Amino acid sequence: MAVEPTERTMGGERDPDTPVGPDPSLAPSERAKELRELIEYHSRLYHQQDAPEIPDADYDALVDELRSIEAVHPDLVTPGSPTQTVGAPPSGLFAPAPHRVPMMSLDKVVSFEELLAWGVRTKRLLGLDDAEAEALRLVCEPKIDGLSISITYDHGRYARAATRGDGRVGEDVTENVRTIESVPLELALDPDEVPPDLEVRGEVYLPIAAFQELNQRQEAAGDKIFANPRNAAAGSLRQRDAKITASRALAMFAYQAETSAELARQSDSLELLRRAGFVVNPETRLVTGLDAVYEYCKDLEARRHSLGYEIDGAVVKIDDRALHRRLGATSHAPRWMMAYKFPPEERTTLLRQIMVSIGRTGRATPFAVMEPVRVGGSTVSLASLHNEDQVAAKDVRPGDTVVVRKAGDVIPEVVGPVLSERPADSTSWRFPADCPVCGVPLVRLEGEADTYCVNLDCPGQQLQRIAHFASRGAMDIEGLGEQRIHQLIEAGLITDAADLYRLAVEELTGLEGFADLSARNLVAAIDGSRDRPLPNLLVALGIRHVGGTVAHALASGLGDLDSIMEASETELAATEGVGGIIAASMVRFFATERNRAFVERLRQGGVSFGVRLVSDLPQVLAGKSVVVTGTLENFSREGAEEAITARGGKSPGSVSAKTTALVAGSSPGAAKLTKAEQLGVPILDEAGFQALLDTGELP
Ligand code: IVH
Repeated sequence: MAVEPTERTMGGERDPDTPVGPDPSLAPSERAKELRELIEYHSRLYHQQDAPEIPDADYDALVDELRSIEAVHPDLVTPGSPTQTVGAPPSGLFAPAPHRVPMMSLDKVVSFEELLAWGVRTKRLLGLDDAEAEALRLVCEPKIDGLSISITYDHGRYARAATRGDGRVGEDVTENVRTIESVPLELALDPDEVPPDLEVRGEVYLPIAAFQELNQRQEAAGDKIFANPRNAAAGSLRQRDAKITASRALAMFAYQAETSAELARQSDSLELLRRAGFVVNPETRLVTGLDAVYEYCKDLEARRHSLGYEIDGAVVKIDDRALHRRLGATSHAPRWMMAYKFPPEERTTLLRQIMVSIGRTGRATPFAVMEPVRVGGSTVSLASLHNEDQVAAKDVRPGDTVVVRKAGDVIPEVVGPVLSERPADSTSWRFPADCPVCGVPLVRLEGEADTYCVNLDCPGQQLQRIAHFASRGAMDIEGLGEQRIHQLIEAGLITDAADLYRLAVEELTGLEGFADLSARNLVAAIDGSRDRPLPNLLVALGIRHVGGTVAHALASGLGDLDSIMEASETELAATEGVGGIIAASMVRFFATERNRAFVERLRQGGVSFGVRLVSDLPQVLAGKSVVVTGTLENFSREGAEEAITARGGKSPGSVSAKTTALVAGSSPGAAKLTKAEQLGVPILDEAGFQALLDTGELP
C-alpha cells in the first residue's frame, strides 16, 4: 500500500481557500489588482503571523511581476501599492512605535550583471571617472535572514526597540529586545564619547543550532514547529511575554548607526558600534572597486551553509557617507546600497519514480522519489509535485535527471528535467486512473487542479484521518504513529478513530512487534486521550477551517460538543472568534450522517465531550464582551474570565469596537490600553469591574 510520504511530511498542505496562481489571460489592470491582493495576503502571513505559505523567491516573483506591470502602465500604480510601501503595518499585538527616520527597504539584484549595472549607474550619478570608480570603497557584509530592528539609546542608555513594521511605524518590542545578549543595555564608550542620541539598526536572528534546539523543545511540548530560523526568530521576538523571548537564544548583528554627531564613513560607524559593545558581523569587509565586491560575493556564497546562521545574499554599501547624501533614495530604498541575493542552490539527481499519496481529505498528491542529494544544507529525496498540471507543465518523467532546489531555502522543489540526459525510451508520466490505495477511480472535477479519491472508506484516507486524530494538538495518543495505524487497519481491528476506544490488549498482543507491554501502553495511551479538553477533540474531528485557535473559541463560547452540534449557523457565527465561513463549515460537517454517527461512536467509546456551561448567576453580562489585562487583586486571570462567562458575557483576548469594557489591573498590556483609548472603549479598574459583575451596568 503506497501511502508514504504523508501530506504532513511533504509539508505541502495548502488551504484550498488560499488565493493562488497567476492567470495569464487577465487584463493588466485586473492582474495588477490580483497581484496586490496576493502580495498583501502573503505579506501579512510573513510579517504579522510569522507563518509564510510560499517561499520568499515566489513572493519576490509576485512583487517583481507587479513592478513590471506598473512600469509599463504607470496609471495603474496606486499609492498603497506594495511596490510603494515596505513590509506590513503593525499587527496590534504591540504598541505602535513610529520611526524618527523611516526604515526603508533595500533594493536587490539577483545576478552579477545587475550588480555591475548598479555600479555603472552609481558611477554616472556621482559623475566619477574610471579611476575614481575603481578606487571607490565599499563595505560588504552578509545579508542576514532575520528581522530588522531599530534600537534607540538615550545618553548611552538602552531606551526603545522597534520592529520595522511598514517602515514608518513599527511595533514596540523594547522589553523583548532587552533580553537579547548581544544588545548592550549601556554603551561601552567613554563618557565624553557617548552620543546624546543614537539609533542602532541591525538584524535579529536565531543561530541554526539554537533553531534546531528550539524546534526539538517545541516538538516535545507539542507546540508549533517553525519552518526556518527566520520565522522562529520573528515568533520568538514577537512574544507578549518577554520571558519567552529571553529563553530563545536570539542574537543581533548591528549594521547601521545614526547619531547627530558626524561619522564620515560607514566603516567608522561600524567601528563605533563594535566599540560600544555591539556585535558587527565578522564577515564584514571594506573593499575597493566592484571587482573586489564580486570576489567577496562569490566567496561568501561558497561558504553560506557553514556560517552557523542563515544568510540569503550579500549587502554592498558605499563607504563614504558624503556620497550617500549625493545619491539619496528612490521612493522606497537608498541608492547607495544594494543587496545581491544568492541564486537558489541547485543540484541534479535521478528521479526514480513519481508516486501519489492520499491525504486525509482524499486529495491525491503526486510526489517525486529521487536518488538522495545534498542541496541547500540538507539531504533531499522526496519533493511534492503538487498536482497533475504541475507534473505536465514541468514534464518530469521517471528516469529523468532532474534539477532540485530548496524553495525559500526550506521546501524541496523539482525545477525540471535535464532534457539532454533523458533516456531515449522515456514516456511522459500519466496520473493514475485509480486510487493507489483502494483502487477506486480517482476524480478530477472540471476547472479544478486537484484530483481526489472520493471513496470515504479508502484505507489511505482513513489512515491519514486517524493519524490526524491521534496527533499532537488533537487527541495526542502517544505511540500511535502511521506505521502502527497501518498495521491496525490491515489486521482489520480498526477502520476509523472511534474503533480505537474498543481495542483490547489481547487483540494487539498477537500482532507483529506488539509485546505485552507495548500493547498495554498503547491501550493506556488511548484511554488517557478520552478526557482531552474539548478544543483537542474539535481539532481531532478534522473539520475544515477548525484549527487550534478556532477550536478554543468554539469551546469557550459554547462549552460542550453537544451545544456546538446543536448550534445554528447564526449562533456559531455569533461566537467570538468564529466567522461565517467557519460556521458554515461546522454546520456542513455535523449535517453529514456519517460524521454524526462517528461522533456518537466516540461518545459510546467514553470520549469526554466537554462541560455544558450552566450557571445560576443572573446573566447580567449576556451579549457583553469584557476584556481583562494586567494583574487584579481579587481575581486570577482565569477567575476573572470565569466570572464574566458565568454571567453570560464573553472575555476575548483582544479589544475591538465590540468590546463593552476593558478591565485594567496593574501592569496592563500597552497594546490593549492603546486600542481601547483609540476606540473609546471604557477602561475599568478592579472596583469598576466588581460593579459591572454585580449589576451588568458600566459604573
Ligand atoms: S542595510 C535600508 N544590511 O534585509 C534597509 N540590511 O531585504 C537595509 N538585512 O530590511 C538596511 N542583512 O532587514 C542591511 N547587512 C545588512 C542586512 C540587511 C539583512 C535585511 C534588512 C532589510 C532586508 C531587506
